Amino acid sequence: MVEKFEEIKRNLQDEIRSIDAQKNAEQLRVKYLGRKGIVNDLMKRIPTLPIEKRVDFGRQVNSLKNEIADSIDALIKRLSAQSVSTSKAELFDISLPGKPQFVGKKHPLTQTIDDVKEVFACLGFDVAYGPEVELEYYNFEALNIPADHPSRTDFDTFYIKDDVLLRSQTSTVQIRIMENQKPPIRIIAPGRVYRPDTVDARHSFMFHQVEGLLVDEGVSFADLKGVLYQFIKAYFGQNIQMRFRPSFFPFTEPSAEVDISCSLCEGKGCSVCSYSGWVEILGAGMIDPNVFKAVHYDGEKYTGFAFGMGVERITMLKYGIGDIRLFYENDLRFLLQF
Ligand code: FA5
Ligand code: MG
Repeated sequence: MVEKFEEIKRNLQDEIRSIDAQKNAEQLRVKYLGRKGIVNDLMKRIPTLPIEKRVDFGRQVNSLKNEIADSIDALIKRLSAQSVSTSKAELFDISLPGKPQFVGKKHPLTQTIDDVKEVFACLGFDVAYGPEVELEYYNFEALNIPADHPSRTDFDTFYIKDDVLLRSQTSTVQIRIMENQKPPIRIIAPGRVYRPDTVDARHSFMFHQVEGLLVDEGVSFADLKGVLYQFIKAYFGQNIQMRFRPSFFPFTEPSAEVDISCSLCEGKGCSVCSYSGWVEILGAGMIDPNVFKAVHYDGEKYTGFAFGMGVERITMLKYGIGDIRLFYENDLRFLLQF
């Protein structure tokens, strides 16, 4: 009988060694300790034994039963500890490659405005802002554009009600600044403007401008030219060419539009410059005396210049972007290139 007990123990240990799941350990418990299990079979034999052997045998079966129960308990403990430690190890697998963190970027137009601000800061210009929802007066009358003036069409915009509109040019900020400050004035004013223009590769109904305004005693057209020259060389690089073309704005006299040599084709001619080799980037001129009158400046004492440039336009030229709509489509394949 002792041999039989030893054989049962050996079998149990063999089975324990080959078990790797808790579910199987429970099956093992049923097999050895269950109602129809091996230990119970032995118990059932007790009544068949001679009286004097029953007590001893019973004790032995009991101790076998306890030994088996201990072994199976230990097995279950070990298996559950193993499953916890493997799942912990999975959480902290330091050999896995790191997940790249997506870091946001500034929109190319914001970057351009920052670049422009930086160049003009070096030339002593402060930054000013004005409202996008504006009174008609600041977009038109104060800028020497009376209601019946044909040039209203050029700066036509979206109306909110009779005398409230979305500004169609950042020149509105000139008036707001001059109403509140005395010369000398040296500011740039970046911001959004709106126009009911037909959308195409170079035009949008909403775009950005940077206005410039400098007023002091003895300011001349040469100063305007010098400041714009410095800016264009700083922003586009030394190889860029610049030209002034006579133009008309009601709020400047004389007025000019400034073209730069097309940086996409280096002046040879392409679709962006309409095969002329030049692209207009801004309008500019000397402040019209009527504008000074509107803000109660002494036009005999002070002179000044102003300019307004298209932010999309200069960004497109600098980076070789062929379509203005790319700026507004939020396509990461485009935006991540900057
Ligand atoms: C003006 O808006 C004047 N306020 C500029 C000015 C300021 C002149 C101060 C004199 C003194 P203009 O309409 O030409 O001018 O626009 C200026 C620039 O804005 C253009 O050179 C162009 O670069 C850009 N622009 C004009 N319309 C659009 C449009 N629909 N979409 C994108 N950019 C445009
Ligand atoms: Mg123009």
